[in-house]
Amino acid sequence: MPRKYKGVFIVLEGPDKSGKSTQAQTLGKYFHSLGREVVWTREPGGTPFAEAIRALLLNPLHTVSPIAELLLYEASRAQHVQEKILPALKAGKIVLCERFTMSSLAYQGYGRGFSISVIEKLNRIATQGLEPDLTVIFDIPEKYFVERCRKKAADRLELEPAQFRERVRRGYRELGKKHSGAVLLVDGKKPLSAVQSRIRREIDRLLRKDCL
Ligand code: TMP
Repeated sequence: MPRKYKGVFIVLEGPDKSGKSTQAQTLGKYFHSLGREVVWTREPGGTPFAEAIRALLLNPLHTVSPIAELLLYEASRAQHVQEKILPALKAGKIVLCERFTMSSLAYQGYGRGFSISVIEKLNRIATQGLEPDLTVIFDIPEKYFVERCRKKAADRLELEPAQFRERVRRGYRELGKKHSGAVLLVDGKKPLSAVQSRIRREIDRLLRKDCL
């Protein structure tokens, strides 16, 4: 789809505890240092209504049917894109989003077994066809997940068995290879500074290419 906005849309993806939030914070500071206006956001969530859906989805006390889960992620996305992401991009801002459409493909597609083409259709409807300018995927092995989980109570998705997480991880690797847009697959085990320089090189290239 031709770009209908002046901003830049960057998405950080990956399995749970892959370090997205830490990288996002550091990247946000980098953009500020370049004098760019940045909007940090996340999925599920990002607006008051979508954050209410997030609370429902991640609450470990709820039992959620797989189809209800998929549709709630898409509902949260539809609200988020319409209310927050598109207006920010139209205003020329950099939108830094933790998780987007690829999460539904990895978790509900590879993880739960829903048809990828059905999820792609739902994604297109929820996003109005919006796609990231760059998707960064953080890849980490299971042992990092286990170590990092000790520090914070697990949410509903984090309580899924290791086999589920393994399918999600495989999903990300495959999605990264076949994705049509710009994708950067990074090794989340590397030190923060090494990962940051790798991402920044790619982003600098993107900003130069588009003269944004
Ligand atoms: P997080 O934002 O703290 O990573 O938690 C969000 C959880 O929701 C995470 O386990 C991934 C999961 N998720 C999906 O299953 N499908 C989706 O479409 C999205 C956006 C997230």
